[in-house]
Amino acid sequence: MEYEIITEANLSLKIPKIAKTFRGPGSKLPGFYNPEMAFSRDVAIFFLGYILNKWGSSGFKLLDALAGSGSRGLRYKKTFPETEVHLNDISSKAVEIIKENAKLNKLEVIVHNKDFNILASEKKFDYIDLDPYGSPVHFTDALFRGLKARGFAAITATDTAALFGTYKRVVLRRYGSINFRNMFSKEAGVRILIHFLLREAGKWDYAVFPHLAYANSHHVRVHISAIRSATKADEIIKKYVGYVIFHEDGSMEFSRKAYGTYLGPLWIGPIFDLEFLDFMKKHLRSYPTHTIRKLEKMLEIWHNEGKINAPYYNIHELAKMYNIKQTPKINKIVDTLRDMGYEASRTHFDPLCIKTNAPIKDIIYASRENSPCI
Ligand SMILES: C[S@@+](CC[C@H](N)C(=O)[O-])C[C@H]1O[C@@H](n2cnc3c(N)ncnc32)[C@H](O)[C@@H]1O
Repeated sequence: MEYEIITEANLSLKIPKIAKTFRGPGSKLPGFYNPEMAFSRDVAIFFLGYILNKWGSSGFKLLDALAGSGSRGLRYKKTFPETEVHLNDISSKAVEIIKENAKLNKLEVIVHNKDFNILASEKKFDYIDLDPYGSPVHFTDALFRGLKARGFAAITATDTAALFGTYKRVVLRRYGSINFRNMFSKEAGVRILIHFLLREAGKWDYAVFPHLAYANSHHVRVHISAIRSATKADEIIKKYVGYVIFHEDGSMEFSRKAYGTYLGPLWIGPIFDLEFLDFMKKHLRSYPTHTIRKLEKMLEIWHNEGKINAPYYNIHELAKMYNIKQTPKINKIVDTLRDMGYEASRTHFDPLCIKTNAPIKDIIYASRENSPCI
């Protein structure tokens, strides 16, 4: 097999040449490396930095559970040498590549060649990064088995067609929730994944709280903290499990109860922890990154939308529904809503959508006011 050496942030990686694709034949090769995921690895570095800063690094043990080329675990170790880093992969070929990459970067890490579902029954970790092909559902039970009483995790899902409601039967079968194609279906999919994690964690008496959940190109990433406490788990489920209700006037709302036309169950609490986003902003230049421009751009939008815990609206669909001839520019509607005293923002989930705590009548008013055709 032909290999090449690439660089991501502060890490050098030797990977099979064909494995640098995320679609097609290279995508399931041992040592699979996906350059598209560099952004998600950058974000995870900040998440780990935040955790170590807030909860301390003494004896901190982390696991890259499905390590592939080792890019995640090795970046964690290179950036935070004080942590004990374990990397695991079921493929012995991947494990060979991980060991070579550790040597290439002169990093001392512990490498396992096990089924994660078995490893998680043998050892406990403070932090687990779970980065599977497709859906994480086959590993989430093991995830909570493998965490200490207070733990953290970052989870990837790439089965976005299911989560975002294109395959309604699949999302129901896999995640136990209803989703369908609608203007809010992307964020709904992310919230369905958080709800699923909550239920999986609940089996082991863990309460889960998301610090950042986002969708980016073909994947979803959720960053959580978990604590073993049945009381806390009950409290969180009672407060934050609910539904999205669709009303005839085009408005949507989060509700604890399902009625009328709805999707869910899903997480209805915040998905952006502003304290973590502030940390990221403050330390943006403190850690080596690969996608600094994108990080800056996303941070700004996450920060704005993070202040609003409500469904978002597609301005074109609303304009069609309310017979507004020419759709106004989104930024103008945002400004008008802010002038009216509401919170309003664009959302990273969809460039055609607006997130606001304004009632639908005022969103329509702000749209009409800014329509070039009034
Ligand atoms: C998407 S790739 C990981 C990519 C890697 N995180 C990276 O950033 O380079 C998923 C990996 O999970 C491994 N895998 C699949 N099932 C597994 C299991 N049950 N236990 C451990 N590893 C597994 C595969 O061999 C593959 O290398």
